[in-house]
Amino acid sequence: MSVPVLTIDGPSGAGKGTVSRAVAKKMGWNYLDSGSIYRSLAIAVLKKKCDIADLKSVVKIAEAMILEFECGDELIVKLNGQNITSELPSQTTANTASIVAAYPEVRAVLLQKQRDFQKAPGLVADGRDMGTVVFPNALKKAYLTASAKERGKRRYKQLLEKGINANLAEITKEIEVRDRRDQERTAAPLKKADDALYIDSSDLPIEKVIEEVLNLVR
Ligand code: C5P
Repeated sequence: MSVPVLTIDGPSGAGKGTVSRAVAKKMGWNYLDSGSIYRSLAIAVLKKKCDIADLKSVVKIAEAMILEFECGDELIVKLNGQNITSELPSQTTANTASIVAAYPEVRAVLLQKQRDFQKAPGLVADGRDMGTVVFPNALKKAYLTASAKERGKRRYKQLLEKGINANLAEITKEIEVRDRRDQERTAAPLKKADDALYIDSSDLPIEKVIEEVLNLVR
């Protein structure tokens, strides 16, 4: 029998990370933060001072990067042996990630790296195309969203908690631009899978959302 997968897709700041981590912990399942893979590529591209429009070079970097993940209370990511965890949350990383993520060739290279996370006893996969492209046969799927205003506030709070200076109006604007890019790209755009449960968490406490997703998968 194949290893069960729960996919949680949705736009930035919808609470996917918090919900996915909590559900994975409760179920004793593995956790894939697919956004961190795109963010790691963005960091690699920025470190190499590679022109983001130079598709061939970006693909080469994606093919060559060696990523290691340590999933404890906090996700630790190493890129080619170097700990890049503190560089993952920045807006520059996020915006660059969203630009390189629009290349179909890049997504093709990163597909297997994501599928490799499907290991017993189960997997919670968080991202934009988990239920539509990466794990279309997932056991259960959820699509988590919230109003742009609420998502901006949540991302702002997260950044402050991580010690990153932020401006609420700027963050809200940036996530709107990024979400639009993610929704409008032709390669694996952000969208709800037909068989995903739609959850709008704008007015829901996070505990309720976690409960709803746990009920879905139990
Ligand atoms: O989820 P996170 O904010 O870390 O994702 C950063 C960017 O990576 C997203 O804006 C999106 O462009 C890209 N991404 C993607 N597909 C995924 C996960 C993230 O295209 N499955």
